Amino acid sequence: MQDQARRGDVKDISLADAGVRLIDWAGREMSVLRLIRERFAKERPLEGLRLAACLHVTTETANLALTLKDGGADLVVCASNPLSTQDEVAAALASVYDIPTFAIKGEDNETYYQHINSVLDTKPQVTLDDGADLVATLHTDRRDALDSVLGGTEETTTGVIRLRAMAQEGLLTYPIVAVNEADTKHMFDNRYGTGQSTLDGITRATNVLWAGRKVAVCGYGWCGRGIAQRARGMGSHVIVTEVDPVRALEAVMDGFTVMPSMEAASQAQVYITVTGGLKALGREHFEVMPDGIILGNSGHFNVEIDIPALEDLSVGSRELRPYVQEFTMRDGRRIYLLGDGRLINLAAAEGHPSSVMDMSFANQALSVEYLIGGKQKLEPGVYAVPRDLDMQIGSLKLTSMGIAIDTLSDEQSRYLAGWQEGT
Ligand code: ADE
Repeated sequence: MQDQARRGDVKDISLADAGVRLIDWAGREMSVLRLIRERFAKERPLEGLRLAACLHVTTETANLALTLKDGGADLVVCASNPLSTQDEVAAALASVYDIPTFAIKGEDNETYYQHINSVLDTKPQVTLDDGADLVATLHTDRRDALDSVLGGTEETTTGVIRLRAMAQEGLLTYPIVAVNEADTKHMFDNRYGTGQSTLDGITRATNVLWAGRKVAVCGYGWCGRGIAQRARGMGSHVIVTEVDPVRALEAVMDGFTVMPSMEAASQAQVYITVTGGLKALGREHFEVMPDGIILGNSGHFNVEIDIPALEDLSVGSRELRPYVQEFTMRDGRRIYLLGDGRLINLAAAEGHPSSVMDMSFANQALSVEYLIGGKQKLEPGVYAVPRDLDMQIGSLKLTSMGIAIDTLSDEQSRYLAGWQEGT
């Protein structure tokens, strides 16, 4: 019983061997994290530190977990989304690697929060979060666990926005490093990772042909840029919808068709939301959508597509294949919702490829080390990843790809640092 509690709560421990092989496979692509892991194993910078990681439980996250463990940390893991867990990975972490893991793909909301609470029961000193559910729970229902916390990291855009709002209201009680803000995170993970994995998720769920299809992308942040680019690469006619005029202008000059979301809704065949916001697609959109439209979301929470409104407008619904729910409207039109409106890249596929998560999770590992090894004590608030760590990760990634770059001569550096020389 106690042994079971230590392992956590996973779907099926017999999946562990398969999980080990998948974790190894992902690790082959994670060269920067591997270097950090080797150093951590020698230096043990996290010795005895209690860490709680609320992340998507994937093969890449497992490689991060093993890096932190080799650094000496006492780690527990739970899912940061009810649908993103890879059950083989959870089983391997819990049994083979002895990292208590609380994550089951498809868990309901109650279990999801039970798992977060189980992780908080260990009174962590550092939190690693993806979307800020762990931190929000700590600051509301579980304030009893706040005292031991020294600092944390946050992986994603949505999480950083939530944390900034908490800090603004004076509620955040400890320092958190916004991993998402590192260049080596958002320029690659959000753009190329989300771009590829979103199309991968929709393809696996539906097997649609992208060539010649009208695809609308709602939101032109780093993730939206990536999805629009990749859909274009597959031969789709891509429409972008935005509320930010500068981003909309950028989309226009990147060669995309930009229009209001209502107009896009009336003509798109696939509509993908990546806004980070609420009800990007709502009742009024569903009312004008053509028969057969496919709706998918890659934003962090399942609130971008107003599912209650879709249910309300429909006269019936059925699951046609895994992750594809057909809603029939009163006038007979059919709208297909993917993965309950949850992150389709993690629900129906495997999330971002390992090679890009390598940089995101190198930022995570180095940020944890920075937080606890810092010379000066950080006040509660949201902090950037130190620039030198970001640069170091970029440089290591290039080296691992066998790509060399130039360096400035002393004369060039002096010129750039000065102001005297002009016309
Ligand atoms: N977020 C997006 N893709 C991911 C992955 N493969 N692992 C962990 N978190 C992710």
